Amino acid sequence: MIFFKKKPDHTITILPHPEVCPAGEVIPAIQGRSIVENLLASDMEISHSCQMQCACITCHVYVIEGEAFVTVMDDDEDRELNKTQGRQGWSRLACQAIFEGGGDMVIEICD
Ligand code: FES
Repeated sequence: MIFFKKKPDHTITILPHPEVCPAGEVIPAIQGRSIVENLLASDMEISHSCQMQCACITCHVYVIEGEAFVTVMDDDEDRELNKTQGRQGWSRLACQAIFEGGGDMVIEICD
C-alpha cells in the first residue's frame, strides 16, 4: 500500500498480479502519461519489452474501469493487440493508453 503525501486528483488501482504487485496497489494517475509511465513512476515494474514503441504485447492490460479517461486506441495498437490470445473488448497496450484525466481507473495486468 502506498501512502500519498497529498491525495492525488486521480488514481490507478492495479488488481493483484503475482509478480508486479501480489497484493494490488493504488497509485497516482498523472495526466499526459501512459499507463506504463504511471506504473513505472510508482516503481511498479510492468513489462514493456519494446520500450513503449507499440511493437510487442508485453504491456497488455485489461482496463476494468476508466476506459474513458485514456486516449482512444489507434490502428497500430489494434493491430498489435490482435497478436495476443487473451484479447478482450477492454484490452489495451498500457504504453499506448495515455491518461487524459477525468476520473480513476482500475486495471488488471495480463500475463
Ligand atoms: S511496451 Fe511494447 S507494446 Fe507496449
